Amino acid sequence: MTRSLYEQAQEAARFLEQRTPLRPRLGLVLGSGLGAFADSLTQATRIPYQEIPHFPTSTAAGHAGRLVVGRCRGVPVAVMQGRAHYYEGYPMSQVTFPIRVLGLLGVRTLVLTNAAGGINRKLRARGLLLIRDHVNLQATNPLLGPNDERFGPRFPDMTEAYSKELIAIAKKVARRQRLRLFEGVYAAVHGPSYETPAEVRALARLGADVVGMSTVPEVIVANHMSLRVLGISCVTNMAAGLSKKKISHDEVLEAGEHVGRQFSAFLQALIPAIAEVEK
Ligand code: HPA
Repeated sequence: MTRSLYEQAQEAARFLEQRTPLRPRLGLVLGSGLGAFADSLTQATRIPYQEIPHFPTSTAAGHAGRLVVGRCRGVPVAVMQGRAHYYEGYPMSQVTFPIRVLGLLGVRTLVLTNAAGGINRKLRARGLLLIRDHVNLQATNPLLGPNDERFGPRFPDMTEAYSKELIAIAKKVARRQRLRLFEGVYAAVHGPSYETPAEVRALARLGADVVGMSTVPEVIVANHMSLRVLGISCVTNMAAGLSKKKISHDEVLEAGEHVGRQFSAFLQALIPAIAEVEK
């Protein structure tokens, strides 16, 4: 008999509980080119996704594909170094499976990061943006199908999909580090082709400040499970038509790696600040 998604997620969570004594309440997902932070953790256990029951294995370049459970300045964290994307051909249930597992592991706060194209002209490549809200243009939803009440309700509220309290903490930490942080709306598209200039103009009219190919399914599932979410986009390039340059995944990775150290320092200050208010 095939097991339910809930049972599969439980199996994966139990597997992880056996691999590490840490019980993180904070989870992070590191996007394209942003994986370096995971190397700074202490007492780290690194588990390749292939070893975790039912986990999708990330195939995109720039994604290491492992879960690192360790401590950041003393705070236990579960860090996903790379994620699966819908454009890779995974069903949404697989794309968001790791979030289910983190939730069952006891994670209550999720920090989701990604690489994104800048639409708002005030943004500059290599800047960071706190996601205030999103527009889901992936024309699907990870909660389609029968609802399992053990995860959450049939019709989850999305009024505050991105925690205002976490945004306030992130801004405070950034100010202390003299780090410039924008705030705005993330539009999620399928990809894997980048947008056309006409699409970018359309997205701007819809109220989007940045565009990317991930994160939103994870945010929906996290809200379904009542997790608090903070979303951070690294603007790796200006979206199509806004600069003369063509867009390439290599440029996206290079820009991610360029901000990597600064981003890592920001996360190292942010995580204890988040853990402090959780107490
Ligand atoms: N568009 C969509 N996704 C992206 C981009 C972009 O310009 N840059 C990085 N991820």
